[in-house]
Parts: sequence; C-alpha cells; structure tokens
Amino acid sequence: MNSITRLMLAGASVIGITALLTGCGNGSPDLYKDASQPVEKRVENLLSQMTLDEKIGQLNQRSMWDGDEALAHFTQEISDGNIGSLLNVPSAAFADSMQRVAMERTRLGIPLLISRDVIHGYKTIFPIPLGQAATFDTTIVEQGARIAAVEASSDGIRWTFAPMIDIARDPRWGRIAEGCGEDVYLTSLMSRAMVKGFQGDDLTDPTSMAACAKHFVGYGASESGRDYNSTFIPERLLRNIYLPPFEEACKAGCLTYMSSFNDNDGVPASGNKFVLTDILRGEWGFNGFVVSDWASVGEMVNHGFCADYKEAAMKGFNAGVDMEMESGTYITNMKQLLDEGKIDMAAIDRSVANILRVKFMLGLFDNPYISTPQEVKYCDEHLAAAKEAAIKSAILLKNDKDVLPLPADTKRILLTGPLAHAPHDQMGTWVFDGEKERTVTLLDALRNEYGNDVTIVYEPGLGYSRDKNEAGIARAVSAARGVDAIIAVVGEESILSGEAHCLADLNLVGAQGKLIEALSRTGKPLVTIVMAGRPLTIKKQLDESDAMLYSFHPGTMGGPALADLIFGKESPCGKTPVTFPAAVGQVPIYYSKNAGSRPAHGTETLIDDIPQEGGQTSLGNTSYWLDAGFGPLFPFGYGLSYGNFSYDNLSLDKTTYKKDDVITASVTLTNSGKHKATEVSQLYIRDHAGSVTRPVKELKGFERVTLAPGESATVTFNLPVSDLAFYGADMTKKVEAGDFTLWIGGDSDCNLSAPFSVTD
Ligand code: NOJ
Repeated sequence: MNSITRLMLAGASVIGITALLTGCGNGSPDLYKDASQPVEKRVENLLSQMTLDEKIGQLNQRSMWDGDEALAHFTQEISDGNIGSLLNVPSAAFADSMQRVAMERTRLGIPLLISRDVIHGYKTIFPIPLGQAATFDTTIVEQGARIAAVEASSDGIRWTFAPMIDIARDPRWGRIAEGCGEDVYLTSLMSRAMVKGFQGDDLTDPTSMAACAKHFVGYGASESGRDYNSTFIPERLLRNIYLPPFEEACKAGCLTYMSSFNDNDGVPASGNKFVLTDILRGEWGFNGFVVSDWASVGEMVNHGFCADYKEAAMKGFNAGVDMEMESGTYITNMKQLLDEGKIDMAAIDRSVANILRVKFMLGLFDNPYISTPQEVKYCDEHLAAAKEAAIKSAILLKNDKDVLPLPADTKRILLTGPLAHAPHDQMGTWVFDGEKERTVTLLDALRNEYGNDVTIVYEPGLGYSRDKNEAGIARAVSAARGVDAIIAVVGEESILSGEAHCLADLNLVGAQGKLIEALSRTGKPLVTIVMAGRPLTIKKQLDESDAMLYSFHPGTMGGPALADLIFGKESPCGKTPVTFPAAVGQVPIYYSKNAGSRPAHGTETLIDDIPQEGGQTSLGNTSYWLDAGFGPLFPFGYGLSYGNFSYDNLSLDKTTYKKDDVITASVTLTNSGKHKATEVSQLYIRDHAGSVTRPVKELKGFERVTLAPGESATVTFNLPVSDLAFYGADMTKKVEAGDFTLWIGGDSDCNLSAPFSVTD
C-alpha cells in the first residue's frame, strides 16, 4: 500500500473504505463528473475518493477581500483544498478566477460555492424585507428574490444568506428591518416566496441561487432588543412561533440553514443539537447543509459554553453545523478531535455529503463558471418590479380630509426633510452592491416626472436624520410660503437599523421632530413620509401631520413609487407587518398575544385623569399602561388607501366543523371611496380555550382585492381546520376541539366576527 492510499484510508468512512478497496465505490473515478448520473450516486462516488484533508476543507468557509495579496492567499488555500466556500468575493473576475483554481488546480476539481448577503436585491435594490412584508403580496416578493438571484448570479454568486425569517416583536432590535415582522403566518408565506424566488424553478439553471434560511433560531427574540443577546424561548413558543417559517422554508426546498448567534435558554444556536439535528433533520427531513453564522462556532467560547476553540469545534460539529463560516475552528481542530474519538468519521462524511449534494444540485460541477449576461443589472424589467414593490410596501397611516392624493390643480409644493434626497439611505440596511448613483430619490422623481406641471421647491431643513443643527428649519419654513402643500420626508439613515444597530429610543432622531413641528405651524397641508428600518414612535408627528405615509427604506425605485402615490397615479395598499408602538416602553407589543388574566377593557384612565389620592382599586385593575393606554399606535395589518373600504355580511358555511373539514368564510367588501384601490382583507381566528392558553387573534389568511369606486365584491376564504393546529400541553401538534371566533377585516383590530366550533 503506498503512502497516499494509507493516508486516505486513515480518514475514510465506511463508505470510503469500501470505495477505496473496490476502486471508486459505485463506478469509475469520473462518475461524479457525469451530469447524467443521479445526485446521490455522484456524491457517494466523489466522497469515496476524497482524503480527510479534502473533506475537512469542504467544511470551511472563508471571507475574501480585495487586492493582489488576497488573490495570492486564496489561490494557495483553494489549491491546497482548504476551502469549500467563499463569501464576500469582491468581483465577478475574482469569483471566476477562484472557481478556476478550484476546478483546475485541485485533485478532484470540486467547485466552490460562492456566497454573499444578497438580502433585498443585488444591484436593483428592493424595499427592505420588512417593507416587502408590508406588501402582503407573495408574488412581488418572489419576483424580487428572483431578480436578486438573476443579478447576483451574473457575478458568480450562487448562494445567498437569505431569507431572514426571524419573527421579531421588538423594534429596538435593528435587525427587525431584515425580516418580515412579527407574524408567523405572514413570515411563513414570505419565507416560501423568497426561497422559491432565489432558487427558481430549476436549481441547475445558472441564475438559481441556493437560499439560506436564517437565523436558526430564535434570534429575533434577543433580550431587550439588543443584538447578539440571549433569548429565552421555551419549547412550545419555539414550535408555535419561531420555527414555522423555517419549516415552511424546508418544505419549499430551501437548500441551506444558518445557525444563529443567540444562546437560547443557555444553549448557543450553533451548539444546539435539538434544533439543528433532531428537529431540522429528524422531524423535517432536511438534506441540505447548515452553515454557522459568522464565527458563531468560535463565539461559543464568548458565550461561556466552551472552554476553547477545540471544544467549540466539537460542540458545533456534533450539534449539526456542517460548514463553519469564518472562525476556522474546524480546519484547525478536526483531525485531532477525530483522533481523540470526540467526533466520528461517519459524521464528517455526512456533513461533506450534505455540502457536495448542494453543489451537485446547483449544477456547479457541470457549469461552474459565470454564464449569464452582465446586462441584467438594473435592466428596465428589474427597475419596474422594484418600483411596484416600493408602491405596494408604502403604508398610508393617516389621510385627514383626503389631503392625499394631491389635487390635480396643485401648482407648487415644498419638498423638505433629510430623507427627501438621500440616495444612500433610501436603499436601507444590508446593501453591499447597490449603488447610490442608481437610486432615484423622491426629489429626482418629482422633478423628472411631475416637474413640468408642478413647481418643486426643495429645502431639506436638515442635512441628515441625526442632524441637530436647526438653522435649516427656518429656511424650510420660509420656503413653505406660497406652496399648496408640504411633503416632509423624515426617518432614519440606513445605518441606524440592521445588524448591531439597535436603539433604546424610537423617537425621530436629530432635530426632525422640531422640523415637523415647525412645518405644521405653517398651516399648510402637511404630508409626512417616514423612511425607516423599523416602526418608530411617531405619535406626535402623526398628530401634527395631515397625512402620513410610512415607507420602510424603499430601495432604488422608492422615489418614483412615492411620487406616483402622492399624485394619485397609484393608491397605497401596504399594511403594517408589525405593531407600531405608541411608546417605546410598550415593547414588546404584538397583536397575537395571550389574553392574560385581566385584559384591558372599559374606560382607559390615563395618568392625567387619575384623581389625587385615588384609591388603590379605583382604576379597575386591568392590564394597561397608565401613561400609554391600552394599545399601540397602529395595530398589525393596518393601512389605509385612497379608497374607502368597509366589510359586511360575514358568513360561514357551517357553525360546526370536523377536524378534516375546510371552513368557507365570506364577506362583502365595498369600496365607497372616490378612487380605485386595493385592500388586503385579513382573516383571523381565536381558539377560546385550549390545553394551553391561546393568542387572542391569529392571522390565518389574507387576500388582495382591487375595487373600483362604488364596487363591492364577495371575498371568500377557504381555511382548512387543520390550519388551527398548534403545539399544546403534550407538545404534539394538533387541532383541539372547542369554540372559536373568526374575524375578517382590514387589520388585526377588526371586529366583524362569527363563532364556530370544532368537534372531534
Ligand atoms: C452575520 C450576519 O448575522 C448574517 O446575517 C450574515 O449573513 C453573515 N454575517 C454573513 O455576512
């Protein structure tokens, strides 16, 4: 036996040993290169020929940087077989040349999986994911992900770290911007749409990208809204709220998962075998691979869960993290761990097979190089879809006296505020590749598209959102003289939301509050547009404004979208994907809460209404805040339009259902307004008594309905009773018989309802 064979045998698994003795396991050494062979055969064939070093190299993901030194370093590392995947590759040329090294200068020619954070667009930037969720439109969201994949793959990127489907109920947490909000059902639907969009219909198509469901799991519950913090989610809550969007991603064929940074109840996600292996693989049958979040295996030392990197590698790997992003604990420690019997060879083979499987499924062995045209970036079709998404994501929160849309005879408007012409900030968080030079701001759009008919006076008032210099406010106020209306665009710069960008105060930053206050005193119709990465506490500005549009950072085409909304070419139809708190102290606040023992009802006695020396029980002993009242500023699912929608005649096909029945519920929706508009009709249920307490309302369906002025339509929902299942006292998922209420309406505060019951 020569030394190479000996070396290979030392690291060979059972499959590998058989393979080495018989040649190549299941055929010729080149079988794995044959695209006509089934993926599993190719995986097995290739695995049987790999050395231990080559296998460990596949488990290692590294971040690249720019320049000649990086080129030399990575050329060496890849040819030595030390890297299975790269992230942050600086250009298409680098991607191509690194792939050539992997294909041509390694013994077996195993392609790299080139990855990147393509979160809400690559070049053409769509609204941030929270804004996409506000569309309640899975079609445009799927299209957005497809477009991102088409553009990114044209630079060699075949794996994105998206969708981010962390349920988040705390807007202090900066990463609420990256997800789909607070609701399980909405996030699950968005999860499916994004996975389908990124991965496309055919994984081997050169424009498909592997999706990565992240962050697995519970990261959105970071204590006190502070990033990288601990979470405390008991198993039932995990299963009922945090896991379903990830299960939906799995059902949609998501190829990869990312383990999150948080420790939940003392167990860091990257060392959590119960979640990464028992649930993901055991219960859901996942056969792709798990990547750690950046250095999150090594950071188990920071958590105090591991004494050193070697223990971290052992715990991460044995828990089910197949590929390690960046910390390098696997590549350094794995051989020793294997020698010491702390990890086993079969597990290494399984993880390598999981990674190879994804590479084969993506067709990377057969078509490793960039083969799609560069011109797709910012093409007209992509810009049009980005505009449509930005239109659909804008939420009309207030429209007193129908100030919006601005009337046709509007001659002169003042455009002001630090976000009116902020091409960088308009793109939002997690944008590595979009160029601000391609962003169309509201100022650009108003001038280009409406400037012939309307005089646009632009006076920003403040230089940027945190600007405290009030000198420009007076200029803005005096520019308001003689205008028909004021459009003020305020909010947050993109850097104030996203990873590690958390806030303890959700009020408008800088002197923006003073700007709105001063503008409101002019007596001119004031339309405030808020561009932000999270719901802000904007009650005062809401009161001071005649109309308010909320536009979570809307991306490249945010300007044209908002301009068309302002002038009524389009009607707003976005709905809040997350509850808007009235005050930061209400957080976490979300609609789908449990009732508690004494729900607030009756008179809302606020702090200034309380008589001096009032008796201890004089306020009634119910659950509310003396200084913030019963509820939020806006409930989940809220949003107006230029139409005027009302709901009547809610009816169910039966009053009692069996567990395998489908509930048919219908309602009459009428638009009595003057404009054609789209409404998102929402169906909620409540399960009144369960083996464990149940939320006061749960979204179970929604429909987008467009109606002309004066038009009515019957909106029908078909809800399988099986959708009422949940994890109850015995921790199994099932429907519990009993009494329910079903509501249909325009937001989670709707009150048109019908009772029904479910029998065994
Ligand atoms: C850390 C972030 O948490 C994650 O979302 C991202 O995908 C990785 N870094 C890679 O950039």
